[in-house]
Amino acid sequence: MGLKPATNPDVEAVAIELSIDGKSVTAKDGVSLYDVISSTGKIIPAMCYHYTFDPFGSCGMCLVMQEGKKAPVRSCTAKATAGMIIRTEGDDLFQARKKAVEKHLSVHPLDCPVCDADGHCELQDMAFQHGVTNLANAKQKFIPEDTRSPVLDFNMNRCIACAECINVCKDVLMIDALQFMKKGGFNQVVPKGDLALSCEFCGDCLAVCPVGAITNKFSKYLYKPWQMKKTTTTCNYCGDGCQMHLETKDAEVVRVTSPLSWKNKWGDRADTGKGHGGLCVRGRFGFEYIDSAARVKQPLLRKGNQLVEVPWLEAMHQVVEQFSEIRRKHGSDAIAGLITARCTNEELYLFQKLMRTGFRTNQVDSSARYGHLNFVHASRHALGIGRSPNDWEDLTKAKAIIVIGSNITETNPLTAVRIKEAIRVYHAQVVVIDSTATNMAKLASHPVLIKHGTEGLVIDGLVKATLELGLIDEDTTGKYPKAFEALKAAVAHVSLEQVAARTGMSVEALKTTAAIFAESPRSIILCAEGIVRQPDGYQNVLKLIDLAWVTGKLGQPGCGVNTVTEEPNEQGAVDMGVAPEFLPGQAPFNDQVARDRFAKAWDVTLPAAGSGANLVEILKGCKSGKIRALYVVGENPLATLPASMEVRAALDRLELLVVQDPFLTDTARMAHAVLPACTSAEKDGTFTNLEGRVLRVREAMDPIGESLPDWHIMTAMANALGCQWEYESSNDIQAEIMKLLPGYYNLGQPRKVVPTVDRYLSNGYAVEVAGRYRAPASSDVKSQRPYGLLMGQTLYHSGKMSTEAPGLIKIAPNTGRLWMNPQDMKQLAVSEGGKVRLTSDRGSLQVAVQSDQSVAPQTCFFPEHFNEPPVKDLMSVQVDPTTGVPSFKRIGVTIEKA
Ligand code: SF4
Ligand code: SF4
Ligand code: SF4
Ligand code: FES
Repeated sequence: MGLKPATNPDVEAVAIELSIDGKSVTAKDGVSLYDVISSTGKIIPAMCYHYTFDPFGSCGMCLVMQEGKKAPVRSCTAKATAGMIIRTEGDDLFQARKKAVEKHLSVHPLDCPVCDADGHCELQDMAFQHGVTNLANAKQKFIPEDTRSPVLDFNMNRCIACAECINVCKDVLMIDALQFMKKGGFNQVVPKGDLALSCEFCGDCLAVCPVGAITNKFSKYLYKPWQMKKTTTTCNYCGDGCQMHLETKDAEVVRVTSPLSWKNKWGDRADTGKGHGGLCVRGRFGFEYIDSAARVKQPLLRKGNQLVEVPWLEAMHQVVEQFSEIRRKHGSDAIAGLITARCTNEELYLFQKLMRTGFRTNQVDSSARYGHLNFVHASRHALGIGRSPNDWEDLTKAKAIIVIGSNITETNPLTAVRIKEAIRVYHAQVVVIDSTATNMAKLASHPVLIKHGTEGLVIDGLVKATLELGLIDEDTTGKYPKAFEALKAAVAHVSLEQVAARTGMSVEALKTTAAIFAESPRSIILCAEGIVRQPDGYQNVLKLIDLAWVTGKLGQPGCGVNTVTEEPNEQGAVDMGVAPEFLPGQAPFNDQVARDRFAKAWDVTLPAAGSGANLVEILKGCKSGKIRALYVVGENPLATLPASMEVRAALDRLELLVVQDPFLTDTARMAHAVLPACTSAEKDGTFTNLEGRVLRVREAMDPIGESLPDWHIMTAMANALGCQWEYESSNDIQAEIMKLLPGYYNLGQPRKVVPTVDRYLSNGYAVEVAGRYRAPASSDVKSQRPYGLLMGQTLYHSGKMSTEAPGLIKIAPNTGRLWMNPQDMKQLAVSEGGKVRLTSDRGSLQVAVQSDQSVAPQTCFFPEHFNEPPVKDLMSVQVDPTTGVPSFKRIGVTIEKA
């Protein structure tokens, strides 16, 4: 209908005056009259309306009287125009609305006692509000419930045909999985084609359904709304940082609900630029890991070949004794620590403090090393900022977006919704460059399928095309003429034709993309796993920054080079200093001023400047016998890294392996001690999302069994080691962080970061850039093997944690199959479920295959969440020489029919 939004960042709608209930109101011309009324604070009933999508106008509740019209008007679908005189109250309107409620009830079963929406139903509320007592005309529909979906049940007897589910799915999510269909004399909502629901299972349709027509399979019949405790917290699956309500009954998590709800329907569509309040499938249906029976509930100590349950005191006593003994005998650098970026900021801060001040070692790292640190280092080096510069609103309102090396709907689904809004509402031009036919590519104005492993070459081509077409910003480049000449010289040898031949991106597409990016007033680049988790990730981010620099996009409002974080707190891990190269606040570990500041604050002598080890170095140290004790918090290197890293051999040599985790992971099974940690649902703290926004994590329930929050265990360990820590809550830790990093929490708003290029472009850039546009070092591009094997994340999972959530496993179990393009399967004469032999330079195995259209020809894919069969062990590892990031997600393979 195009009613919303009436304005966009480039066109300001005309202001008009109209009268509502005798008061003059100023509004924007053309917006929904309903929005204008609700913006005055007056709430009139509306059952088919939600501010996140265009009005539908079916329920007949939002009636108002407009002067000059005889009958009431539906305010949601009426556009506000200058001079309108509107009345929203009066007995006539009350009676008309009451009639509408009676009409809905006449075809609605009165099964409230067994309806999930009882006590949380708009139809109930409206019947009560309008004094509807005559239900004699209620007619049953006897439509059988559709229970075919793994997460949702559709009970169309209760449907009021408001279309909110259809509209949120089509308009906001651009998935369009639902439709109305006339069946049995009634208009019913059915999955498209009346087949079993096949969609992203985000559950946003469930959230906006105002009655009990769509219900949640995981919580059906388990509660009445008033029995539940509702805790607002931050999702623990990805770096989008979605806000969610964890609803618990006694010690059980019953369901997860979202700020997006039919109850929260009044707002300005333009505000959805900051997010629409929905969740993805992981956030909404992946909660069952929290109270899973598989949780470790008590500390375990290795006795002989077995891990045996022991009391906390015994476990801590032994762990601390052994750590101290190893330190006494072999020094501090015989100890190292790894932590997951699923911990809170406060815990990450304490972890590095414990390693540096308790154990006196700088051998400390986090899962941000798996890729995010490539981005952080490149961005810090060139621009002085260690995170993405743009927030969700910038992304929504961008006019041009290049998404390169990111299957964003799978890794960061709600950031993907921002790009979808940019496409649908603000008509952004979106170029998606990937070696997979991603879901976002299907929606993009410019989808570009490239050969696997050629992202770096594509960027070379984009920079070259920009220079060739003269798409440069002369103001910016004119300030640094030497740097600009050096860049021109560096790409002089790049031939667009050769880039096109090697990457599969045509010369025309390279030029068009360069022009779209350079010519738009707000241009954003978003790069992710296909760049930062791959060899040359650091250099490729720097090349993207070159592209943004010469086109004048650095530091311009709404422009920048960004990445996404796959785990919820990768940014926090870096900001809290969990890396040998950083102290908190990303202060360089070797910087004397920073060292003095932290040494004084912590009242210690820090480990020597230049000391320390990152993830790869720590594992090497374990294998060589230099490191004898490893403290692993929430990380699972054995299950994550390929066999060529020899993690098992490294861990086997340790005298002490302590694993602190909610689950008995593969790494934990090798441990000498396992300390049971809480999940984020059982503790307080904060996460820093991909926008740099610090978000609250709130305790929704008591810890399961004897598990404890990580910060609590670390505090106890530090004190047993002789530190004098007095933290009694995560707030105490927060108070310390606030003193050391003023402004970090910033009331939940992302701190504005301003890139500065002066130091970078004036000092040594010419030398540096000279080697940047060489052919990539990545072996997979040069590999003689004809197929690319890619491993990566899927929508329904996140690392290994989601595999502990039965709901997500039900939707997406490990099929143990390799995904292949149907064309390739045909060529190899393998059918669905048939077996192939997959061979890389690292080994060979047999695996069954399944066809998938999103997998590009000459590539194959296996989800990184599963190790059965052990496809990850076919990968080799390349370590970035500058950032220490290990890449192991892509390799050349041969595939033969087995
Ligand atoms: S679960 Fe999400 S994707 Fe599926 S139909 Fe509902 S809104 Fe659409
Ligand atoms: S299923 Fe719910 S949201 Fe969808 S049309 Fe029916 S009542 Fe409305
Ligand atoms: S998008 Fe990420 S943060 Fe949001 S609900 Fe999904 S997994 Fe959680
Ligand atoms: S809210 Fe306007 S017709 Fe339903």
